[in-house]
Amino acid sequence: MKHLISMADLTPEELEEILELAEKLKEERYKGRVTDYLKNKSLAMIFELPSTRTRISFEVAMTDLGGHALYLSWNDLQLGRGEPIKDTARVLSRYVHAVMMRVRNHETIVEFAKYSTVPVINGLSNLEHPCQIIADLLTIKEYKGNLKNVRLAWVGDGNNVCNSLILASALTGMKMVVSTPKGYEPNEDIVRKAIEMGADLTFEPDPAKAVQNADVIYTDVWVSMGQEAEREKRLRDFAKHQVSEALVSMAKDDVIVMHCLPAHRGEEITEEVLEGEHSIVFDQAENRLHAQKAILLKLIGGEEVD
Ligand code: CP
Ligand code: NVA
Repeated sequence: MKHLISMADLTPEELEEILELAEKLKEERYKGRVTDYLKNKSLAMIFELPSTRTRISFEVAMTDLGGHALYLSWNDLQLGRGEPIKDTARVLSRYVHAVMMRVRNHETIVEFAKYSTVPVINGLSNLEHPCQIIADLLTIKEYKGNLKNVRLAWVGDGNNVCNSLILASALTGMKMVVSTPKGYEPNEDIVRKAIEMGADLTFEPDPAKAVQNADVIYTDVWVSMGQEAEREKRLRDFAKHQVSEALVSMAKDDVIVMHCLPAHRGEEITEEVLEGEHSIVFDQAENRLHAQKAILLKLIGGEEVD
């Protein structure tokens, strides 16, 4: 594995290795052990869009691993003044050991990776959010013991998080039911690819039916970054896809409710559900740190890690 741009860049075995490594690193952090496996390594983090979790968890991950992370805002780089992506990729490759990027358009990261000679990690694009999903798989494993027998209902927008989750379901054997309003289905190419990979994927527009027998209900914002102009229309179109207490009560009694955050209370999820007994959103957020470390080690770590 050279880059992590899509969940589909991973084989099921590589994904399993990353999850196991993340579990181990989480334990080591809890025990207060020094894990400076990335001593003298640097990570460039380019952000074209805002971030709390991704930025901080990657930066702390690099610090915990004895390395260094550089926060680079798109507009403060010469990129903001039009320096080509292909030049920036080749320049950064001469300085750092890996680059993590959050971009508006997926093509930007694909172009960057084409010219980069160091691993490139997708810290969210309009198409995918693989680092989020790796942390989420770790969290689901912690609560449910495994991924194979899990039934996950996605309720809301068929967006970047949903797309990566669909590919993850193909890699892990997790069963996934996708419930979106008409016109907001996940990316067709990703769905096709996931089905080719053997995904157990169904589509159920009615959220009440989608959550039946669900072990996990996952939702995300109705208006993703870059879609602000569509806000009013989206609020109307998604009104029936809110994760409310009534909806949660239709799933299994021990259902866990997930959200990648930031959440918009009163839109995709109610305050009661987000703060309620089924919600595990802050465990998810914490696991970004442990998962990120495992990703970094797999991409730029030395032999001693395994
Ligand atoms: N979930 C997530 O990626 O959060 P940030 O936008 O805060 O990084
Ligand atoms: N779907 C959201 C995820 C934010 C972490 C967005 O793209 O804005």
